[in-house]
Amino acid sequence: MANSMYEQNESGGVLVNIRKAVLADIEGIYNLVDYYAERGLILPRSRHSIFETLRDFTIAEQDGQIVGTCALTLAWDGLAEVRALTVAPQHLRSGVGLKIMASVIDEAKQLGISKLFVLTYHPEFFATAGFSEISKEELPHKVWRDCINCSKFPNCDETAMTRQL
Ligand SMILES: CC(C)(COP(=O)(O)OP(=O)(O)OC[C@H]1O[C@@H](n2cnc3c(N)ncnc32)[C@H](O)[C@@H]1OP(=O)(O)O)[C@@H](O)C(=O)NCCC(=O)NCCS
Repeated sequence: MANSMYEQNESGGVLVNIRKAVLADIEGIYNLVDYYAERGLILPRSRHSIFETLRDFTIAEQDGQIVGTCALTLAWDGLAEVRALTVAPQHLRSGVGLKIMASVIDEAKQLGISKLFVLTYHPEFFATAGFSEISKEELPHKVWRDCINCSKFPNCDETAMTRQL
């Protein structure tokens, strides 16, 4: 698994580094997650929750700035959830999301995970990343543990998708 890889940003020709998060990244992750959580696109995360789950996170950085985040959370035997996937607004549609996903998929394979799932308002992106839509009922009950804290529970309007690895 590549812990860190430098990728060319096709639109700007700018280098984006994809790597596992470290403690110094917590504030940057928090700010980006908070930006999209305030817009209702992902679940909010406290700094403390990011601290506790820091080892789940992969980040994209450019010039020392965090421009993308993604958490890979083990959910069940062979199953993991893709969470808190974000790309900074000024970098959207320049391939950063797919680069983070490629790194997270690599990590998941290394861990022996056989299937990823996501609950999302961006099914188009995940379809591009090789995910297919499923019925939410197909997911094991255990994966709903965080949904209880969601303001929309139990009327989830996100799309459930999975990708076999
Ligand atoms: C979803 C998200 C991470 C995608 O990041 P991104 O870096 O813009 O995605 P990419 O540039 O890698 O997109 C790859 C492909 O996915 C598809 N895609 C991405 N965003 C799309 C959109 N808004 N509408 C339609 N297709 C989209 C396109 O096919 C795109 O390729 P193209 O730009 O050549 O057409 C980003 O939109 C984001 O941060 N959204 C807000 C937070 C969020 O909802 N996260 C998902 C949580 S589950």
